[in-house]
Amino acid sequence: MEENVTPELGAEQMLEAAHAARPEGKKVFVKTYGCQMNVYDSQRMSDALAADGYAPTDRIEEADLVLLNTCHIREKAAEKVYSELGRIRQLKEERGRDGRETVVGVAGCVAQAEGREILRRAPAVDLVIGPQTYHRLPAVVRRALGGEKIVETDYAIEDKFEHLPAPQKKAVRSRGVTAFLTVQEGCDKFCTFCVVPYTRGAEVSRPVAQIVAEAERLAAAGVREVTLLGQNVNAWHGEGADGREWGLGELLFRLAEIPGLGRLRYTTSHPRDMDDALIAAHRDLDKLMPYLHLPVQAGSDRILKAMNRKHTGDDYRRLIDRIRKARPDIAMSGDFIVGFPGETDADFEETMRLVRDVTYAQAFSFKYSPRPGTPGADLDDQVPEGVKDERLQALQALLTEQQRAFAAALVGRTMDVLLEKPGRQAGQRVGRSPWLQPVIVDEKAGEIGDIVSVRIKEAGTNSLFSEPVS
Ligand code: SAH
Ligand code: SF4
Ligand code: F3S
Repeated sequence: MEENVTPELGAEQMLEAAHAARPEGKKVFVKTYGCQMNVYDSQRMSDALAADGYAPTDRIEEADLVLLNTCHIREKAAEKVYSELGRIRQLKEERGRDGRETVVGVAGCVAQAEGREILRRAPAVDLVIGPQTYHRLPAVVRRALGGEKIVETDYAIEDKFEHLPAPQKKAVRSRGVTAFLTVQEGCDKFCTFCVVPYTRGAEVSRPVAQIVAEAERLAAAGVREVTLLGQNVNAWHGEGADGREWGLGELLFRLAEIPGLGRLRYTTSHPRDMDDALIAAHRDLDKLMPYLHLPVQAGSDRILKAMNRKHTGDDYRRLIDRIRKARPDIAMSGDFIVGFPGETDADFEETMRLVRDVTYAQAFSFKYSPRPGTPGADLDDQVPEGVKDERLQALQALLTEQQRAFAAALVGRTMDVLLEKPGRQAGQRVGRSPWLQPVIVDEKAGEIGDIVSVRIKEAGTNSLFSEPVS
């Protein structure tokens, strides 16, 4: 085994020992692109490297190890990595002139998709490591220090989570009162525009006991809100403590029992996998926040079919109706793609109609970006950039209007806010509404980590302003 980190074996003591052994201390700088799953992975990589003597730094110039955790979802995201690698090459050369060695690593979805090609295009890179092999990272870095160029992109047969050190109390504390917890990796849906099934591999659910143990650790370190992550998180399944097969709904009920955890969220969901137990969790669990990110991508049935989403616009509308019946104060968030190959003006109008029917509290919208290796990229009738631009503008104007209206409707209402950090101005704290909006709160309302009740007095562009409830 290349690994020498045993998660259960007092990783905290090992961490201290590692620091003691290297008084001058090596430093790692991690830059994260893409989705929350990458944010979570970056933290776990930092934890694994801490056990190997690397302290995190946010100053790239002082880093002995620079890691880019990359995203391949759209062309722009992937290209950003290469321009960053150009800058890092200069830095590496400068440090080299001072006799300091810098190991440069590329992790994440670009690493998985492009592998060896990265070494060719960016000679400053020493190691390329895919998302399923992060537990091997410390060993890979040691090999890179020995002068080897390494590409580790096999889908490992072992479970990376079992081999990664558990999140460390100190590190968790430094990250605040909210945390991500990946419960599922990969995706089996194969939407025709999307690279994720190729970069993250097949859908795998982490076992219940592993998830519960990690959530308990987070809570013990002061985390109040946990967001469960997966590209298709609502397809998560596993054997429950009662021996029955559980879905995400049952898992949420179990996690709601953990003392200290005040709020639960999950993201991202697929409309096809919203089952009754999950909808019931929204109805019965106060700790489950009334906010759901449920991407639909497009409104036209023809385009939905070409995207291989396996549902119609009306299926989605009916589903939202059921969810709202169970939890009337739930607010929706979504993702949209404009300009998928073959999308006509009439198809695009169907997307606009669906947005008007559903109404979103927040949404993300993108121009279709053909990705190498996906079926969509080979389709003939690609939509011209100018048309995509126009559609994106129209859609974003509508979504922004809905977002503003949603925030404005909260003025005068009382709500619970989780206090997350100090505000920019003295005497203030920033908290989160149940719908993920930043809320400015008077610091007398409570300490960071408290969930307090406030009244909204004003809705700004990006935040809500509050006053105490008398
Ligand atoms: N698993 C999630 C989405 C993951 S990717 C889901 O199924 O909804 C995040 C978002 O990026 C997607 O919802 C989609 O809107 C967008 N996206 C994915 N591939 C894209 C592409 N090729 N071009 C433009 N947007 C894309
Ligand atoms: Fe991509 Fe579709 Fe899987 Fe989401 S469900 S990650 S969009 S293939
Ligand atoms: Fe990007 Fe990979 Fe996430 S492609 S969106 S970082 S799963």
